[in-house]
Amino acid sequence: MTATNDTILVTGGAGFIGSNFVLRWIEKVGTPVVNLDLLTYAGNPANLASVEDNSRYQLVRADICDADAVAEALAKHRPRAVVHFAAESHVDRSIIDPGAFIRTNVQGTYTMLEQARRYWSGLDGTAKEKFRFLHVSTDEVYGTLGPDDPAFSETTPYAPNSPYAASKAGSDHLARAYFHTFKLPVLTTNCSNNYGPFQFPEKLIPLVILNALEGKPLPVYGDGQNVRDWLFVDDHCSAIRTVLERGELGETYNVGGNSERNNLHVVNTICDLVDEIRPDAKIGTRRQLIKFVTDRPGHDRRYAIDARKIARDLGWQPSVKFEQGLRETVEWYLNHSEWVENVRSGSYLNWIKQNYEERIAQ
Ligand code: NAD
Ligand code: DAU
Repeated sequence: MTATNDTILVTGGAGFIGSNFVLRWIEKVGTPVVNLDLLTYAGNPANLASVEDNSRYQLVRADICDADAVAEALAKHRPRAVVHFAAESHVDRSIIDPGAFIRTNVQGTYTMLEQARRYWSGLDGTAKEKFRFLHVSTDEVYGTLGPDDPAFSETTPYAPNSPYAASKAGSDHLARAYFHTFKLPVLTTNCSNNYGPFQFPEKLIPLVILNALEGKPLPVYGDGQNVRDWLFVDDHCSAIRTVLERGELGETYNVGGNSERNNLHVVNTICDLVDEIRPDAKIGTRRQLIKFVTDRPGHDRRYAIDARKIARDLGWQPSVKFEQGLRETVEWYLNHSEWVENVRSGSYLNWIKQNYEERIAQ
């Protein structure tokens, strides 16, 4: 067998960005998608309920560290591309349990690259020429910036500071090595903080929306002045589609929203939106719920992305303004109480207890 078909294979497609990507892909591109996902605590098939009966969507429950399962999925579905999202993604969890991050992000990415290389080596002609492996990564690999430093570009040296960032940096290096050594047609994207529907409420924005709705404390680490460069998830998905279609092999592309905001600003804005959309006299002004708590160890101060390369070379730009995207996101969480109930199960509650119980109010 030497040919491929139109199918793409996505890993981690039941997570936050992966599920948004799968939904948009089916809507906008329309070719079949196979989603290889282990369904860890972060993977939620309910995110894909709207396509689960669609003949162009298929879930394969498997571990990216399982070489046989990955090889079997590639051999069976003959994808023309792999888009690799699957990872352990939460920095705070990587501080409590780094081993899971090394396994999934380093060992898992190695397994995906190696099995993709074997599969790609067996392709012929146009199928071989057109095959792509797109590795989805993060801006955290570049470390942290001071207030006046220039934003991260593709040539900024790697300086990861958390076990999560270090494991993603390791996976990026492997992706690079597979291009240089084996000529596997690899593309890499390094993106800033995403927000939008289906994000697991361990991350800042959904956590604060849901706590604000219920009148619970809003934990802000340290002084709340850490800066992130926020990007609406649909814009990240369109950047990935663009790089997959037109990216130059072996290149990396930084993806960002030109939306630097400090955490306190983000939390205050969410409070005001929830007050406006769901006023509650018993709770009062949501800003009163803010609690400054013990900082994250090694907390990166500022991230900012210089996205000029993808704009110049591939014509991609973010299209959603932060204030608009945040309003849509708040509305989405407030209107999807069933989804919220389902994800806040036992393991979620255990995590909240573990991460926040010992953080002392500052
Ligand atoms: P997520 O934690 O929401 O989802 C991760 C998905 O991977 C889940 O569906 C989970 O079940 C799956 N998974 C985990 N371990 C697996 C394994 N061993 N085998 C198969 N599947 C497994 O993550 P996310 O926020 O959607 O991030 C997706 C990717 O994008 C990650 O690689 C992350 O590093 C990168 N990224 C995320 C952001 C962000 O702001 N969330 C920004 C830049 C880059
Ligand atoms: O920059 C891209 C990265 O963005 C991705 O690679 C990661 O997968 C993703 O999780 C995200 O990492 P962050 O650590 O920046 O995201 P998080 O939502 O965990 O935190 C955002 C900021 O808010 C950060 O400065 C820490 C702070 N924070 C977070 C939580 C959960 C708080 O102040 N309180 C909280 O309770």
